Amino acid sequence: MTLAEARRRVEQLRQEIEQHNYNYFVLNQPTISDAEYDQLLRELQMLEEQFPQLRSPTSPTQRVGATPQKEFKTVRHSIPMLSLANAFSEGEVREFDARVKKLAETERIVYVAEPKFDGLAVELIYEDGVFVLGATRGDGEIGEDVTQNLKTIKSIPLKLRTPKDLPVPKKLEVRGEVYMEIEEFRKLNQAREEQGEPLFANPRNAAAGSLRQLDPKITAQRRLQIFCYDVGQTVGIEFHTQEELLKTLPRYGLRVCPIYRVCESIDEALEFYREMEERREQLPYEADGVVIKVNDFEIRKIVGEVSRNPRWAIAYKFPPKQATTRVKDIIVQVGRTGKLTPVAVLEPVALGGVTVQHATLHNQDEIDKKDIRVGDWVLIQRAGDVIPEVVQPITSRRTGSEKRFTMPERCPVCGDRVVRLPDEVDHRCVNLSCPARLKESILHYASKGAADIEGLGERWVEALMNAGLVKEIPDLYKLKERVLELVRLERMGPKLAENLLNAIEKSKKISLARFIYGLGIRHVGEHLAELLAQRFRTLDALMNASEEELLEVEEVGPTVAQSILSFFRDQRNRELIEKLLKAGVVIQSPAQGAVSSPLAGKTFVFTGTLKTLTRSQAEALVKSHGGRVSANVSRKTDYVVAGEEAGTKLERARALGVTVLSEEEFLKMIRA
Ligand code: IVH
Repeated sequence: MTLAEARRRVEQLRQEIEQHNYNYFVLNQPTISDAEYDQLLRELQMLEEQFPQLRSPTSPTQRVGATPQKEFKTVRHSIPMLSLANAFSEGEVREFDARVKKLAETERIVYVAEPKFDGLAVELIYEDGVFVLGATRGDGEIGEDVTQNLKTIKSIPLKLRTPKDLPVPKKLEVRGEVYMEIEEFRKLNQAREEQGEPLFANPRNAAAGSLRQLDPKITAQRRLQIFCYDVGQTVGIEFHTQEELLKTLPRYGLRVCPIYRVCESIDEALEFYREMEERREQLPYEADGVVIKVNDFEIRKIVGEVSRNPRWAIAYKFPPKQATTRVKDIIVQVGRTGKLTPVAVLEPVALGGVTVQHATLHNQDEIDKKDIRVGDWVLIQRAGDVIPEVVQPITSRRTGSEKRFTMPERCPVCGDRVVRLPDEVDHRCVNLSCPARLKESILHYASKGAADIEGLGERWVEALMNAGLVKEIPDLYKLKERVLELVRLERMGPKLAENLLNAIEKSKKISLARFIYGLGIRHVGEHLAELLAQRFRTLDALMNASEEELLEVEEVGPTVAQSILSFFRDQRNRELIEKLLKAGVVIQSPAQGAVSSPLAGKTFVFTGTLKTLTRSQAEALVKSHGGRVSANVSRKTDYVVAGEEAGTKLERARALGVTVLSEEEFLKMIRA
C-alpha cells in the first residue's frame, strides 16, 4: 500500500469509526456489531503502526493507549464553573421564580427543566472543532486536566461533527456531567467484591474515582458516560437560549440528555419535577433532582449571580434516599462460601419508594467502626439501588439500653464452628455441608450466569430442601424421579412442576464457562470463568491445572489461583462434580473444533508488517483457532509473531524469553 492509499483509507476508517461511536453512544442506535467495530479499529491501528506519519491525536485509536501520568496538571477555567443553589420544597422554587421575575422586570419567564445528574462536572474545550483539553470542575476556578481520561469516553467526540449549516467554532467550551450508569456500577462493584477490592459507595463515587485515575487504561474499562448541558466561553458561535443550546450540541456530536422540557411557567417546571420524581427509579442513571434554568440568555445576564450561584437557575432536589429508623435486632446470614454477614433488622421505613426492613452491616469490623448497636436509632440510605446500608447511629438518641453486637462463635444455621482467618475481615462457618451454604450454592448454580434454571428461586429451593427432596446440587437432576412428592409441595401443582422439571432438564447442556461459574469457587466470577474456560478448554484440564498454569491466565493472581486449587483439591467438590456428570450434565467446551489446534488457549502478540496477511486477518485466524490476541507483550504472552520492521515489542519478547515466530512459522502452526 502506498502512503497516499494508506492516507485515504485511514481518513475513511477514522470517519467511519467516529460515526459508529456517535450512532452507538450518542444516538443509542448501533448499526454494526461489536466484532465488526473492533475489526475497523484494528485495521486503523495497524495502518497507523505501519505509517507512523499518519498518526494523529484525534484518531479514535488515541482514545486509549496513553501512558499513566504521575499527577494531574491544574487548569484555570476561563469562565468560572458555578454551582447551583438548592431548593427542597415547592415554596422555595416559587420564591426563586418571584425573584427572577422581579429582577428581570417581567411577568413572563420561560424555563428549561432538566434532570440533575449525579456525577461530576467537567469542561471540554474544542478549538477549531478539535478536542484539545478536558478538565474537572475542581473548586469552580481551578480544575484538573483529565484530557487523556475523557478521551476514553466514546460519547465525547475527538472532533466535532460539522453539519453544513453550522459554523465550526473557533472555540467552544462545553460543560456537562460525567456519570456511570447504575448497571455498570453494579457490575463494577460485583467484580470488585469477587476480587476482594473495596466497593464504591454509589455511582457518583465510582464515576469520580474512575475519571481521576492516573492510568487512562483503567478509566477506559469503566465505561463512563456524559451528558452535556451548558457552555463556557464560545468564539465563532453564539447561543441565545438553553433550548437552542440543547438542540445544537447534539448536532456537533455532543451527547445531550433527551429528557428535558421547555416550560412556559414555573407550574410547568414543577409538573416536570413531579413526573421525574416518579420516573427516577426507572432511569438507567442516578438523578438527584431537577435543574430549573431561565431559557433566555439575555435575561440570565440581567438576573446575574451571587456568591458563586447563578440567580437564573435552581436545583430542586428529590427527597433524599436516606431515612432514620431503629435497629430492632442484628441477625446473621450465611452465604454460599460460608461467610457470615450481619444484617440489621429495622423498624420498617419508606425509602426511595420502597419499604425497607433490612440493611447489610457487612462485617464485624464495619459494625465496630460505626459503633452500631441493637436498639440504636440509625441513619440508613440506598445508593444506586444497592441493598440499603446503615450510615451511622444517632448517638444523641441513645438511652443506655442499646446492646453491642458480637459475631456468634457457632453458625446460626448448623451450629458448627465459626472462624475468622488471620488476614480476613469475614467470619466463616467451617461446615461445608451447612444447609445455609448448600442453599446458597444451589441458588448460585441455578442463577442466570450459571445453569440458568428458570423459576428456581429462593422460595422453591427452600421448599425443596425443607421437604428433603434436595440436599445438594446434583439432587436437582433426580427430582424427576420424585414427581409425586414434588407436585404435592405447597403451591406447586402439576403445571409448575412440569415447567420446573423442563427447566432443570434443559440446564443439563451447559457451557464450560457457565459450569465453572456455577460451581461457586471463591473469587471466580462470570468473567474469570469465561477466561478459564478459554484457556483450559475442558473441565479435566482445569481440575488438574498446576498453580503455574493458573497464573498464566491473565487476571489470575496468587489468591485466585489458591482458591481454585483448594476447591479442586477438596474431595467433596470432586464428588459433587462426579455426581453432576453421572446425572447427565454435559459440559460443552468452547469452540469445539478448536480444541486440537496448537493455538488453542495461547496468547499471541503481533508486531511489524506481515507479508501475506493483514493484521486483522492474522488476528481473526488466531481467534478462530481458539487463541487470544493481546496488544502488549508480557510474561503471559505465549508467542510473538514478528513481521518486517518489528520494533520494541520484539525486543521485549526477547528480553522476557517469549517464543518469537516468523510469519512462515506462524502459518505452519495454523496448518498443523
Ligand atoms: S447547569 C451554574 N445542569 O450540578 C449552572 N448542572 O451545583 C451550571 N448538574 O456543578 C450547571 N445536572 O455538576 C446543570 N442538568 C444540569 C445538571 C447540573 C447536574 C451539577 C453540575 C454542577 C452542579 C451545580
